[in-house]
Parts: sequence; C-alpha cells; structure tokens
Amino acid sequence: MPPSTLRWGIISTGDIATTFCKDLLVDPSTRNATDIFHKITAIGSRSLSSAKTFLHDLEESTDRFKWGVENGSLEGCHTLGSYEEVYNHPDVDVVYVATPHTLHHRNCKDALMAGKNVLCEKPFTLDAEELEDLMAIAQAKGLFLMEAVWTRFQPITFAIQDILFSGQLGKFKRLTVDNSLDYKLDERGESHRMLDPALGGGALLDLGPYPLVWAMLVLHHHPDNVTRSRPKVLSSYQTIYQRTGVDSASRMLLEWEGVGQAALTADLTCHGYMDGVAVITCEEGDIVVAAPPSKPQTFHIVPHGPDSSRQGFIRTKTTHHHPLSPGHGMAYEADEVARCIRGGKKESGRMPLDESLVVMRVLDEVRRSGGTKTKDLRGTAGK
Ligand SMILES: NC(=O)c1ccc[n+]([C@@H]2O[C@H](COP(=O)([O-])OP(=O)(O)OC[C@H]3O[C@@H](n4cnc5c(N)ncnc54)[C@H](OP(=O)(O)O)[C@@H]3O)[C@@H](O)[C@H]2O)c1
Repeated sequence: MPPSTLRWGIISTGDIATTFCKDLLVDPSTRNATDIFHKITAIGSRSLSSAKTFLHDLEESTDRFKWGVENGSLEGCHTLGSYEEVYNHPDVDVVYVATPHTLHHRNCKDALMAGKNVLCEKPFTLDAEELEDLMAIAQAKGLFLMEAVWTRFQPITFAIQDILFSGQLGKFKRLTVDNSLDYKLDERGESHRMLDPALGGGALLDLGPYPLVWAMLVLHHHPDNVTRSRPKVLSSYQTIYQRTGVDSASRMLLEWEGVGQAALTADLTCHGYMDGVAVITCEEGDIVVAAPPSKPQTFHIVPHGPDSSRQGFIRTKTTHHHPLSPGHGMAYEADEVARCIRGGKKESGRMPLDESLVVMRVLDEVRRSGGTKTKDLRGTAGK
C-alpha cells in the first residue's frame, strides 16, 4: 500500500517552524514510518518575502533533509503573505501553528473556523479558558486538534514509562525536573518574545511545559493515579527579571494525590546539571534522564546501594540509549498527527486534549500567583 500523504500548512517562519519543517523532509522510513508521507503545501507569514525565503532555505536543505526536497515534499508549495490564506487554502489538510504563545488561540481558532485540523506549539494557549474554547470549536467542527508536545512521542519516553510502571525499581517516591539554560537575557531586546510580557514572555510559559511533560508522563500517567486526577499546586515561586517584568525562573511543587510529588524548575539564567535533568526517584534507585528534557536520548538507572530501604534486584548502574531517528526529533509527533487524521481521530491518545488542559491549569495557577507582568494577562477566548 502506498503511504498516505498529509498536506501541511505552516503558520509563521521563525525558529521552531524551521526545525519542524526540516524534520518533515526526512525520509520517514528512517524511523520505520513507511505508511506516511509529509508534504508542505503552504507557508504563511506576515511577510511574503519571509515566506519565500523560508521555502528557499528548505529547498536548499542538505544531508538527511534533502530526501524530502528530492522526493516531492515541497512540490508546488504556495508561499503566502498572510496566515489567513493558509487557513483557507484547499491544498492544506492540517495547519501547524508556531507563532508566539499569545497568538496561539487566535491562530488556532481561525484555522479551525476555516475547517482545518491543527497542531499547535507549546504552550497550547495563554490560559485554560482559551484552550477550552478551542476544544469546543474543534469538537463542534469535527476537526483534529493537538498540542505539539513532541517529547511524548519519542522512543525514550515509552521506555522510561515501561520500566517505571513495571515496578522493578519499587515504589515511585518523587520526581525532580530542571529545564534550565542560559538564554543571555541581558543581551536580548525588550521586544524579544521571551522578554516581552505582551507576548507571554518568561521562563514559565516557554521552558515550563517540559518539566510538566515529565510530570505528566511519570505521575499523571502512573497506574496509582487511577482516576487520572489533576495535580495540586502545593507551592510556586517566580523570580522576576526586572528589565521587563517577566519571570527569569519559575519553580513549582505539584502533588498528584496517591502518587507523589514533583519539584519542577524552569530557569532562563543558567544551565542545570546536564546529565540529570529529570530524576525519577523510586525505592530502589533513580531513573536519571540526561539533557535536554525536550528530547533526551539517554537515561541511567542508578541503584541506591546498601543503604536503600529496599534491597532488591537493582545492583549496578546501567545506561540506556534510545537514539532519535535522523532529524531533530519532531517527526514522531508529525507522524502521529498523520495517523490520527488518516484514521478519522479528533485527538491523539498519546497527547489527549484533557491532558493539555491539566497542564494549562497548572501554568495558569503558577502565573497568576506570581508577581510578574504576565500575571494578569488575559487570553482571547470568545473573541
Ligand atoms: N517544541 C519546542 O521545543 C519549541 C521550541 C521553541 C519554540 N517553541 C514554541 O513555538 C512558538 C514560537 O517560538 P519560536 O522560537 O519559533 O519563535 P520565533 O523564532 O520568534 O518565531 C515566531 C514567529 O511568529 C511570527 N509572529 C507573528 N506575530 C509575531 C509577533 N508579534 N512577534 C514575533 N513573531 C511573530 C513570526 O513569523 P512571520 O513573521 O513569518 O509571521 C515569527 O518568526 C512559541 O510558542 C514557543 O513556545 C516550541
């Protein structure tokens, strides 16, 4: 059977749109996805010249990204000087939204209203109200909608869940995740999306979704969370970057009742301990995940040793590699979108909408109890 083709319309021409589109150009067979072919049929930008440059750069791709160029992934691609033209283009099956956070709701809504399926970058929206609005529209229109949480689809996340949930390390005790990097804030202009409060700038909304990915995979999905209940935010703190008033760092302590706690950090001022960005502590030892938390490829199982309260099966440290297929690691989520749409699904089982909503509610609570300039920022739900 020939692979089914999914036709992508791309909204905006920034950094992550570039990375995502490059990954669509990688030969799907390199990740055993022989049932799918990704085609980029429209690129929309606020500026037509940006759209044209973006396409030109994709056409010039080398190495592993050349496959798509040579095999028709960009054939007949339309470059458009507005996002609306992408939403309304008959050659587009699904729209990928990669604008700054505060525009996600408006962009997704416009795409859905035009009858298009949507994959939207993290954080899905600015607040839960906006997300609920999108979920209602997608449901009413019978369209597919998903947050682009690429980590969830990478092989390592399945492997870690298998080990953790098998119980071989004993009972789960706690999770610590640190998604930190030195973003050189002082060298950035105040209108940069990471620094501008009006664009939802700051560590919480940009880096925060990744500690939350791990908290969701480890605690929310844990078999002890029988009713899949939401976490409680036990405490949180946001450090304010005085120049623009966004958070340079955010910390949160969450509890899933009956499962355990997660201590999460997102920090734009300094790298963390790269060999252990996520530490999943169980009775017998730790699962230690190496950086970056958005796309790790290695984890270690580290026994607690003779002082452990439980001396069971784990005696020596082991290292486990789960390499990503060629590319940046974003193609797995694109494959999921293709399979869901082909199968008539309206959401992904691996990244369901109600789990995006759980995350959004945590982000809302932390943002609204912090002292930043994004504290009172309201979304555009209903508008
Ligand atoms: N999944 C991940 O790991 C990951 C990584 C990075 C970012 N992201 C998410 O992706 C989104 C975009 O991030 P990015 O790093 O790609 O940002 P970026 O490089 O600044 O690109 C954003 C693009 O949005 C468009 N845009 C529309 N209105 C804008 C405005 N008022 N100000 C600035 N840009 C505007 C621009 O494209 P046009 O001029 O072509 O319209 C711009 O190039 C964010 O929500 C971020 O959280 C996800």
